[in-house]
Amino acid sequence: MIILKTAAELERMRRAGEVTARALARVAETIRPGITTRELDRVAEEAIRAAGGIPAFKGYRGYPASICASVNEVVIHGIPGDRRLEEGDIISIDIGAVVDGYYGDMARTYPVGAVSEQARRLLEVTWEALERAIAAAQPGRRVSDISWAVQSYVEAHGFSVVRDFTGHGIGRQMHEDPSVPNYGRPGRGPRLEPGMVLAIEPMVTQGNPSVRVLGDGWTAVTADGSLAAHFEDTVAIREDGVEILTRPYGE
Ligand code: MF3
Ligand code: CO
Repeated sequence: MIILKTAAELERMRRAGEVTARALARVAETIRPGITTRELDRVAEEAIRAAGGIPAFKGYRGYPASICASVNEVVIHGIPGDRRLEEGDIISIDIGAVVDGYYGDMARTYPVGAVSEQARRLLEVTWEALERAIAAAQPGRRVSDISWAVQSYVEAHGFSVVRDFTGHGIGRQMHEDPSVPNYGRPGRGPRLEPGMVLAIEPMVTQGNPSVRVLGDGWTAVTADGSLAAHFEDTVAIREDGVEILTRPYGE
């Protein structure tokens, strides 16, 4: 069941999106060679709490941290720990905050210092896939128009779309209906209506799209060890178009 949000609820979700985005900005400016992913997690948690929010991920189905920190071949759900970033790595930071009962959820993948040309291209293509996906999320269109926008763009650039994880509705819970796959033919699935709020999150690999989950039950890595990138925004469908709730100061 898709839960449409009222104008008053959207205002609260805007605040959740803003807290999430500002906390991620703090993490982003902390990323450098030599830092551990645990230190980045601490920056995120402090920033979320200082803004009056609650880390959305911590305790979610037993998840132990406030961010997912996914380095290189880790696609999503990397658990922060003692790993030190090295020049040339790419790291996806996925972060969520609950403010006044509503969730914000977003992710960006960053280069650590100078990265390979291939890595840079992967980041650019995955970012542009998210941009196109959001542009496709217009009222009156359907969920799989978002999916197709991602898949067609990514595959045209020689990369692959992960199938095992999807975007999702979001609101008073982090995961609500509908599921928002990053692949599939256009024109299918629920119609996009004003009041729907979606977390759109393309996950893209350099090589094969298959992923496997490590023994910790969370860390999802590419089966072939190739690099992966992940970008996510929380967006609201409105009468007049689509509003990105997790970009309070543009991007
Ligand atoms: N952005 C991720 C998602 O949409 C965050 C989940 S991480 C978890 O599912 F640890 F909280 F599960
Ligand atoms: Co999400």
